Amino acid sequence: MSNKSITVQKALHPLRGSITVPGDKSISHRVAILGALASGSMQVKNYLCSEDCINTLRAMQQLGAKVEVTDSQQNFTLTGTGMHPVAPAHDIDCGNSGTGMRLMAGVMAALPFSTRMYGDESLSKRPMKRIMDPLTAMGAKITACGEKPGCAPLEIQGTKLQAIHYDLPMASAQVKSAVLLAGMLTEGTTSVHQPAITRDHTERLFAHFGIPCSISADSLDIAVSGPVAIQAKDITVPGDISSAAFWMVAAAIVPGSEITLKNVGLNPTRDAIITVLKRMGADISITTINTTGEPYGDIVVRYSPNMKGTDVLPHEIPNLIDEIPVLSIAAAFAEGTTTIRNAAELRVKESDRISTTVGNLRAMGAHVEEYEDGFAVTGGYALHGATMDSYGDHRIAMSFLMAGLMAEGETTLLQCENINTSYPSFEEHLRQLTHC
Ligand code: S3P
Repeated sequence: MSNKSITVQKALHPLRGSITVPGDKSISHRVAILGALASGSMQVKNYLCSEDCINTLRAMQQLGAKVEVTDSQQNFTLTGTGMHPVAPAHDIDCGNSGTGMRLMAGVMAALPFSTRMYGDESLSKRPMKRIMDPLTAMGAKITACGEKPGCAPLEIQGTKLQAIHYDLPMASAQVKSAVLLAGMLTEGTTSVHQPAITRDHTERLFAHFGIPCSISADSLDIAVSGPVAIQAKDITVPGDISSAAFWMVAAAIVPGSEITLKNVGLNPTRDAIITVLKRMGADISITTINTTGEPYGDIVVRYSPNMKGTDVLPHEIPNLIDEIPVLSIAAAFAEGTTTIRNAAELRVKESDRISTTVGNLRAMGAHVEEYEDGFAVTGGYALHGATMDSYGDHRIAMSFLMAGLMAEGETTLLQCENINTSYPSFEEHLRQLTHC
């Protein structure tokens, strides 16, 4: 258990300046995995060098991929194995990352060797049955060896799989991607149906790497025909909108703020945080720079004194699932009630984010009601600083540090080491934007 804590004071100054948030976490994992299986070399730029994505890159190096850092750590040449990966010499450490473990499980299940994947305390409690079910239906041999049933470590004895159609029981991009990655290595057409649109980075990267993949007009049905050949192709990872979201909320709530967030990913399956904050009255303007592949652009956010509560719509939930903790902070500073329902998936993230968000909001004096599948925050009550646990959850830590910028007195978040899993330069950006 880490014991690093971070303390912030009520912001004496507005947030000002311009930052470039680090590369997108979801895209970085997928680039490492697909690049490691590709034939040839590619330049990867702006890879997220956080613990989660470095663990996935190390796992791919164990399979035989080569990484040669060019000018700085996040820019490197990745040379793939040309679909001839080797058995890893050691067990694969996925650290804190559910995405890393679930996506790699889809690949490892179809490769001709055995792998054991493990993670930290939080990851060892997260459900793996959701990927084991479809992969087992494809013929995969996976054993969950954790103390908690259906949880990591996972022992995977790779084998030839069969193509299937799978109806996802939950809106999960990780489960969708695990099946599609297994499908791309399997003879025949593997298809999935998702109950709602989830982030489509796997599909966009399939297109980038020339992997044949068909998507229905409503984006709910996706199919891949394998086995595929992947040709290496240079890629630049856009900034992570989930990391940018902390600053969007902070700038909207701290009087006098005006910040620019540069090169932020604007994938339409990830941008509902912007839609919802704007609907609440946040002053956000966007200059789109790139519209192909993964779109990205610059975002300017200004102090927004008249924000109002909103009901987050069911279809918006998967699109902003990782931003809900920080959205709750915006809600606490908006007039009226913000309601988030249909979000039971939050209970199986790095922490139970319904209970950790509600508990910390209450610790700061916010008015909040908890539901099995979400919560409602009624804003307009002054928050006070508090000492709070982040429960080892990076997004809880960063969200409540943003609340601390507008709460009376001092706010301390305990167990903040996990911020490194997604946003290693967070503290530097905090100092830069708050001029502290
Ligand atoms: C992710 C999908 C989401 C998200 C996670 C990253 C991905 O999880 O919460 O941070 O990269 O596919 P679920 O698939 O569990 O919804």
